[in-house]
Amino acid sequence: MAHVKVFDTTLRDGEQSPGVNLNKLEKLEIAKQLEKLGVDIMEAGFPASSQNEFESVQEIARTVKNSSVTGLARAKKSDIDTAWEALKDASEPRLHVFLATSPIHMTHKLKKTPDEVIETAVAMVEYARERFPQVEWSAEDACRSDKEFLVRIIEKVIDAGATVVNLPDTVGYTTPYEYGELFRYVKENVPNIDRVSLSCHCHDDLGMAVANSLAAIENGATQIEGTINGIGERAGNASIEEIAVALQIRNNFYEHSTNLVLNEIKRTSDLVSKFTGMVVPGNKAIVGKNAFAHESGIHQDGMMKNASTYEIITPEMVGIGASNMVLGKHSGRHAFEDKVKSLGYDLSEEKLKDAFKAFKSLTDRKKDVTDEDLFTILTDVQTDSSDAAKYKLEAFQVQYSSANIPTATVAMTTPEYTRVETAGTGQGSVEAIYNTLEALIHEDIHLEDYRLSSVGEGRDALAEVHVRLTVNGTAASGRGAAQDVLEASANAFLNAVNRVILNQQLLNKQSAPV
Ligand code: KIV
Ligand code: ZN
Repeated sequence: MAHVKVFDTTLRDGEQSPGVNLNKLEKLEIAKQLEKLGVDIMEAGFPASSQNEFESVQEIARTVKNSSVTGLARAKKSDIDTAWEALKDASEPRLHVFLATSPIHMTHKLKKTPDEVIETAVAMVEYARERFPQVEWSAEDACRSDKEFLVRIIEKVIDAGATVVNLPDTVGYTTPYEYGELFRYVKENVPNIDRVSLSCHCHDDLGMAVANSLAAIENGATQIEGTINGIGERAGNASIEEIAVALQIRNNFYEHSTNLVLNEIKRTSDLVSKFTGMVVPGNKAIVGKNAFAHESGIHQDGMMKNASTYEIITPEMVGIGASNMVLGKHSGRHAFEDKVKSLGYDLSEEKLKDAFKAFKSLTDRKKDVTDEDLFTILTDVQTDSSDAAKYKLEAFQVQYSSANIPTATVAMTTPEYTRVETAGTGQGSVEAIYNTLEALIHEDIHLEDYRLSSVGEGRDALAEVHVRLTVNGTAASGRGAAQDVLEASANAFLNAVNRVILNQQLLNKQSAPV
């Protein structure tokens, strides 16, 4: 069985999904989970893009030990220098530098001739290799590039020291047959190709990203790139969990395996979905809610007689339906701590105290606290920057009747630690709360999207709200959970506003990256 490396770009290409803006703590939690999942390489971000991004990449590089951490750079010395500063403490610092090779990109975007593109790519790979032991070079828009030109530039960047060559389908244009052909052509025509890993990177514009990645593996790719849940630019990237499980279930056909710990897939998918606010569609392969549900009578009958009649993947393989022992009102601190550990959380004493408090307050109102509830409480506590100055909801009241105008009264503390209070109205209860919060915050806030879901089942389930706002023109997403829909709505709104405020505070405090 040959081995194929997994390069995860959830925190870079995935984070480029419209409306997604993860904070530093969330990125770090996702990185730790990706390490548990066993990805060989994780792209933590694009360090030169902002000070915040630089710091996130640096923190991930310093924390993650069992995966190689990489960062993206344009073919520019300053980007490479910044990436080095962010990544130099990683256990295996790695750079991902890219330059477009298609006529359309070279002419219109880069305004360079093919020879100038070769010269720049070679110079930047050589420059990067002065620092980084591992340098991946990507031929952006490879699938719309001239194959002979690709062969020429790839040979030169390998001589310049590239250790990985990536052929991205940047615009999701190619078909499995063509992409496989491209890999075969490069393998057969680049004389020094055996000195590097050959990587595939597919976007899903035509819904073929996973099929294209598998075709690349069949034709010599030794590394696959993608994201959890397939999130990413436009229609997204190839979904890593789909490729890994396809390789496992159809190993008789593909004869390639990955290092992924498959039963960490569900948890990774849940974490990414929660933090990004990108809901996994019910019918999504591997991780969708319905992926293991059997509705028709004939299927249910077959399943009861023998699960393999209609189920090619067991839910357990991908980490679904592991123990769901509930806790409740009478569960003490000891049982809670055991549960927290068994769910894979490693919380500081202080965060554990906060989590226990949140758990106890939930048991006052909810009989059974499930793993799903705890996942929500624990991830929220874990990623709450409790020491930062921010808006905090203290109390609120809503008056609603079908005959009168809904009115909200809200009390909260500001980032300056002052308590403020006012009342406002709206067409509905949520709007009344949002109008009142906006009046207290004194910023120009627009609600772009609002989504409500329940955590688990039952009338007493936790409510979870995801919102997308613009605050003075800056987009931010936020999430909030509570047992009450209105409280969850208020929390989500403030969570989004706080992200913008915290970013502004950071910008004011910090100088530019090195
Ligand atoms: O899709 C793409 O071409 C990319 C490059 C930066 C590798 O994401
Ligand atoms: Zn991409």
